[in-house]
Amino acid sequence: MVQASAPGKCILFGEHAVVYGQPAVAVAIDQRMSINFEISENWRIDGMKFQNRKHPHVTALRTRLWEGGPPLSIKITGNIPPASGLGSSASLSVAAAAALRCARGRQIIDDDWAEGWTASRPNDVYNSAGIASKGDFIEHGASAVDEDECAILAHAVEAFAQNGKASPLDSSTCSHGGCIVLSDKVETHLNWLYSRNLNGVTWEVHSVKLPKEIEEAYLVIGNTGVHAPTSVQVEKIAKLLKEQPNRINEIETIGLISKRGINGLIEGDLEAVGRAMSENHLILRNLGLSCPELETLISAAAPSSLGVKLTGAGGGGCMVALTRDPKTTSEAIELAGGRTLISSIAASGLLVDNDSDCPLWNPLN
Ligand code: PMV
Repeated sequence: MVQASAPGKCILFGEHAVVYGQPAVAVAIDQRMSINFEISENWRIDGMKFQNRKHPHVTALRTRLWEGGPPLSIKITGNIPPASGLGSSASLSVAAAAALRCARGRQIIDDDWAEGWTASRPNDVYNSAGIASKGDFIEHGASAVDEDECAILAHAVEAFAQNGKASPLDSSTCSHGGCIVLSDKVETHLNWLYSRNLNGVTWEVHSVKLPKEIEEAYLVIGNTGVHAPTSVQVEKIAKLLKEQPNRINEIETIGLISKRGINGLIEGDLEAVGRAMSENHLILRNLGLSCPELETLISAAAPSSLGVKLTGAGGGGCMVALTRDPKTTSEAIELAGGRTLISSIAASGLLVDNDSDCPLWNPLN
């Protein structure tokens, strides 16, 4: 059996503005999706027959990583609510990529990874004894898994499932964990991880190391239960900017606020982070991205929070509060009709939880 898990994500700054090249900041949350695979007589998922159409992410990964492999029985568990902007599909894709990677082991042939992935930085791919070298067969799955690679695979399958439209913010945050910043240029004061390119758009992906002080606060995420597709909200802003080109000033202001928020995070200045979040919300609201349900939850959370804003696409979905008193904030949001999740800031990324009998399949045999 092989089992892997990955966290969901919450956007702290820069949603929508990131579509226009401004920096966006996301953190991994404590809520996770977990997937396990076992060799089986036929393809099954949660005890039922596997249907490609119902599971586009797993299907795309299966095609990439398991072509010709034996059938698997798949089990999915997790506590990330679907379609709420918290990265449930990216989290599942990252976990599935890691589990399948473990399940087939990894080989090096002629200086290259046999399965088409070439590590640009050799240190990224390692086994428990150190860096893998030519001719190694890495028997133990966990050591054959690489966060960058799982982020790439998850981004590719997200794009496949969403008609080519997916930024790498979710896949990178769910794979690496911690705090991730996406921008259209390399931000020199951050830890640059890699560039991603999809359909002519390039993103620079960075990680941010957060100081201990950040652990004093929590995120309380409140779900309105109102469904608002991301594509509709993104289209709304595109239309607004076309009709009123000067509104790009607001998008640029969000970029400035994100930068202030990032500095607050790096310095462990929770008050500054909170202020930036609330300011970011005011602009999102001005752009028409809030809704009465979000405003009700935001007003309820504000008195006990350092900062509060909608998170993700808006128009419904979730809000997030930064607070030192998560119990009080959560109760206030629940009383106002929201469903809450409490998370630390910047949770762990991808984990291989069980690789006891890996590899399950050795494609070179
Ligand atoms: O739907 P979410 O929570 O993953 O957020 C979308 C973020 C946007 O900036 C609105 C869109 C995007 O592709 O970045």
